[in-house]
Amino acid sequence: LRPIHRLLSCPRTVAAEIKREEQSSGSVETGSEGRTPKKTFSEVQKERREQAQRTVLIHCPNKISVKKFLKYLSQHGPINNHFFYESFGLYAVVEFCQKESVTSLQNGTRTPSMGTEAAIPFRSRVFNLKTKNPSNPTSEQSRVQCSIHAPPSSKKLLELLCYAESIDDQLNTLLKELQLTEENTKLRYLTCSLIEDIAAAYFLDCTVRPFGSSVNSFGKLGCDLDMFLDLDEIGKFSANKTSGNFLMEFQVKNVPSERIATQKILSVIGECLDHFGPGCVGVQKILNARCPLVRFSHQASGFQCDLTTNNRIALKSSELLYIYGALDSRVRALVFSIRCWARAHSLTSSIPGSWITNFSLTMMVIFFLQRRSPPILPTLDSLKTLADAEDKCVIEGHNCTFVRDLNKIKPSGNTETLELLLKEFFEYFGNFAFNKNSINIRQGREQNKPESSPLHIQNPFETSLNISKNVSQSQLQKFVDLARESAWILNQEDKDRPSSSRSQPWGLAALLMPSVVNSASLAKRVRKKPASERIKSLLESIKSSSPENATSTNGK
Ligand code: CTP
Ligand code: MG
Repeated sequence: LRPIHRLLSCPRTVAAEIKREEQSSGSVETGSEGRTPKKTFSEVQKERREQAQRTVLIHCPNKISVKKFLKYLSQHGPINNHFFYESFGLYAVVEFCQKESVTSLQNGTRTPSMGTEAAIPFRSRVFNLKTKNPSNPTSEQSRVQCSIHAPPSSKKLLELLCYAESIDDQLNTLLKELQLTEENTKLRYLTCSLIEDIAAAYFLDCTVRPFGSSVNSFGKLGCDLDMFLDLDEIGKFSANKTSGNFLMEFQVKNVPSERIATQKILSVIGECLDHFGPGCVGVQKILNARCPLVRFSHQASGFQCDLTTNNRIALKSSELLYIYGALDSRVRALVFSIRCWARAHSLTSSIPGSWITNFSLTMMVIFFLQRRSPPILPTLDSLKTLADAEDKCVIEGHNCTFVRDLNKIKPSGNTETLELLLKEFFEYFGNFAFNKNSINIRQGREQNKPESSPLHIQNPFETSLNISKNVSQSQLQKFVDLARESAWILNQEDKDRPSSSRSQPWGLAALLMPSVVNSASLAKRVRKKPASERIKSLLESIKSSSPENATSTNGK
């Protein structure tokens, strides 16, 4: 990370430095690039999964000669890629070119002999590297360069935002700073692959797949790692292979329901993680939840993990979000900013409760972008119309069909700026008739609410479910109040402030200040007019800037 004092002293150097970094880090998208043909979601998943299977995780001494380390490992085969990071010590992620190299390394590895404690022998892909002569360091042993896996501090982020050239630039900067890096993504797939090794001890041929924000392109550095144990493939391929009049089936244990099967499987995998999983700590079995899960911390990677099973629909919704995120470079920039804004005002939390979730916020942004004129994003129904026979997908009776090839979707003709979209997002939802209407990305228009939850966002595939059922009226009200206030701040900025005199947080940075209502700059403005006048001018500004929204949303 760049030292803060340098950031403060010379904004121009910082801007140049950011640009240079953008150019040099080819794998990190800036969010401001044009639309380029992208791989399909399953192609990415397959590639990353295969990459992870050739990869090992090594806990290293703090000082090490990288050259010697790589040479030592190359005895087992050529190395394709490596990086270091810190998490309870120094770790190296080493990707071999071939899977056989991992077996070779495992064959040359011993189980440690403990002093007073006893080791449970388990042949995993997580290793400890010891130096034979720790008291005799060579001159080549030095601190290694580590990749960063934590988001920048709020202070640093605010500084970066203040130095941006425009609000559009601010949204793109935020995206670039918070999005998952290439290394972090690799570590996420590797962690799933390591958990798969443990689950495979029981369920040979099972797959552990990441889903949610780790793969849907909306993940922020530090977000949890959602994974699911996919047992669907087991025994599928061997069926129909033999000819003749007989059919062979595995003899299995039957239980009364799918839910009980899930609970039993997760219970045993939870025990395995707890007892044998290297670095799996704080294992909690939450088996009575609507979607039973095992929660644990994976110490070596630093990820908080949620493991479920039979969650193919959630994987499909991750794929849908991936498509929406890839269709237009404004989508991710806007989603990241809204998520960050919500977090800054404690609208979202890492603790489950009656608050809005990031998943719901993402749906709201997608819906809003479907409502623009012309639309920035297509509806799910139109993505279904574009699907061909190969895209057809029905899971547990739910139709999850949509086009998976991004190149078949026509780009939007809408050219609105991020600044405008941010402002209009707050105005749109500051005036949305949440009491009457449901948000529905399948049809891209408001529907009458089928039930009385304060916030109703239809699950795109399990259409009878409300993804925001947990949200209380007071949390929704807090969201609406903050959205209105943020729209007002952005509108005031246009009027008040010439862009050259930016000594205080401005634009997106002003919206992220811990409490908008208490911020000094707002307090000053608030004092200018009595409350009734302030509210009147706010309503006026909202009405005058978006006539179509005022008619379609019937303010609350
Ligand atoms: N999900 C769902 N219905 C919900 C909640 C979650 O279908 N009511 C699915 C979504 O596919 C979501 C995934 O489960 O992406 C993971 O949920 P969660 O971890 O809450 O959301 P993320 O999208 O991963 O976002 P975050 O970064 O906050 O973890
Ligand atoms: Mg998640």
